[in-house]
Amino acid sequence: MSKTQTISAAASGTLTIGGDLTVNRMGYGAMRITGPGIWGPPAGKAAALATLRQAVELDVNLIDTADSYGPKVSEELIAEALYPYPAGLVIATKGGWERPGPGQWTHNASPKHLTEALEGSLKRLRVDRIDIHQLHAPDNAVSFEASVEALAKLREQGKIRHVALSNVTREHIERARKIVPIVSVQNRYSFADRESDFIVDYCEQNDIAFFPWAPLGQAKEAHAAIKKVADELHATPLQVALAWLLQRSKMIVPIPGTSSVTHLEENVAAAGLQVPQAAFDRLSAVSHPPASLRG
Ligand SMILES: NC(=O)c1ccc[n+]([C@@H]2O[C@H](COP(=O)([O-])OP(=O)(O)OC[C@H]3O[C@@H](n4cnc5c(N)ncnc54)[C@H](OP(=O)(O)O)[C@@H]3O)[C@@H](O)[C@H]2O)c1
Repeated sequence: MSKTQTISAAASGTLTIGGDLTVNRMGYGAMRITGPGIWGPPAGKAAALATLRQAVELDVNLIDTADSYGPKVSEELIAEALYPYPAGLVIATKGGWERPGPGQWTHNASPKHLTEALEGSLKRLRVDRIDIHQLHAPDNAVSFEASVEALAKLREQGKIRHVALSNVTREHIERARKIVPIVSVQNRYSFADRESDFIVDYCEQNDIAFFPWAPLGQAKEAHAAIKKVADELHATPLQVALAWLLQRSKMIVPIPGTSSVTHLEENVAAAGLQVPQAAFDRLSAVSHPPASLRG
């Protein structure tokens, strides 16, 4: 058996999202397949297409993207690489945060823009309905309720299967849930960055999936403790960071981002990595949530 045949996202187990979408818990983030600064086409289009196809080969069946990655580029490449989609592939996209230039973001979660963004995502992804559509971020210039109501309306129209949120507080989630069921939340979270720890707990208590963005800490060096556990397990520190996330909560689906097949294989291989309980506890104690956020 070749090395890649032994690697499968299925080793992470499954999570059923929104009652009807069952995915392997090791996902893939498709932000990194664009040009530098998440702007324009990638330097190597063939490599980007190969990475997407290899993700599916390795049984990844949750792919995260957004209309603004490129902009448009990530969604277009997903369709080019994978359409017609294999059964069971879930594509979670987002709207409400625009990319006006390399490395720049601007908010735009007005109902008008969210509706236009959704129509664009449907076209680019070549689907009639988005499985998981995430509000990319609340917009300070727009009523949060108005943004969520716009997505709820699109769900009623059958254009969105499930509504989800990103970059939110617990209060946002609670307010949104009064309008429409929320099936997943995507905030920045990793072994090295536990500011959203209490959101993970809230999601677990309320049967909401949690997609940590930057689950690898954007490949920055984490604490030496993780390196020590990696050496003990004959794994890489980034693999231990992903395995720690999988063990942190059954609602977590990491979406590590990469533009490289080699990195993808390393990341998906972490689906089968078990961190012994004692090592998991040791790691969890190293990178504690801030005191103000506990309890
Ligand atoms: N909701 C939001 O606001 C938001 C914000 C940011 C990201 N996201 C989503 O979350 C996903 C993940 O976040 P992210 O991509 O920013 O951060 P990440 O997954 O923590 O790290 C990605 C970075 O790590 C590198 N990398 C990946 N695997 C590696 C490996 N095995 N060895 C060495 N380097 C590796 C990648 O470079 P290479 O390409 O060279 O592998 C890339 O620079 C994104 O793709 C996107 O879908 C959402």
